[in-house]
Formats: sequence, structure tokens, C-alpha cells
Amino acid sequence: MKIAVINGPNLNLLGVREPEIYGRESFEDYLDGLKARFPEIELTYYQSNIEGEMVDYIQKTGFEVDGIVLNPASYTHTSVAIGDAVAAVPAPVVEVHISNVHAREEFRKLSHVSAQVSGTITGLGLKGYELAILYLQSLKK
Ligand code: DQA
Repeated sequence: MKIAVINGPNLNLLGVREPEIYGRESFEDYLDGLKARFPEIELTYYQSNIEGEMVDYIQKTGFEVDGIVLNPASYTHTSVAIGDAVAAVPAPVVEVHISNVHAREEFRKLSHVSAQVSGTITGLGLKGYELAILYLQSLKK
């Protein structure tokens, strides 16, 4: 089974970026743990700070993998294009946010992605990625 994990802008700085909100672990370290936890899954990881690159990647990988775990980061709240890309591909998508976006600023309550995904996990820290993978895995069983 193939699952793509896709992170949006500034998530390359996890571990050093606002650690009181996003924690002190880098995504690379967390990803190593995920790969060890799910050896039977072919996990690919992509991160971009650029909206169009994310659209291109979702368009491509969304026809190749069995599921996508997507944290569009700040583009969640602004990008119709990323929402449309998610709607355009056959792979089921789970939207993940590390922080609880509903407990933060008003502008974070709007997601252009939520209506296009299977479901959303928000506020459970990095654990949300693992839970999203478990859900996508359950679809194949
Ligand atoms: C985020 C929440 C977004 O509002 C924010 O812009 C991010 C990260 C999260 O994972 O909690 O960059 O998606």
C-alpha cells in the first residue's frame, strides 16, 4: 500500500518553529518513527512552501497512491486551488492539523480543503498523522 504525506508551508521548520504550539520534534525525526511503525506501507513525504508546487504534487501523486495525509498549513485557509486539486484526484485524503485550528485565531476556522477530504484531524499534535494513516490503512483491509 502506498501513502503520501504532504506538508505545506513552514512545516519544514517543525521543531524550531513556535515550539509551544507545534512541539519540539522535527518532521524528519517523526517520519522516521512513522516508517518504523508502518513497515508494510510505502510512505512518501513531500513538503513545499509554494502553493502551485503543492497543486502539482497532489495532481500527480493523487493518481498513484492509495491515500494522502495532507497538512496544507496556512494554505488551508486561503487556497481554493489546493481544495480543487484534492477534489480532482481519486486517492482518499485525510486533512491533518497539528494544532487545534478551532481554538486559535478566527481566520484558521475556514478550510478550503475540509469539504473535499474524507475527514479532518486537528489538535492531536503529530499523532494526527499516525491516526490518519491508520484510517487510510483500514480502507484497504
Ligand atoms: C497548521 C495550522 C495552520 O493554521 C497553520 O497556518 C500552520 C500549521 C497545523 O498543523 O496546526 O502552518 O496546519
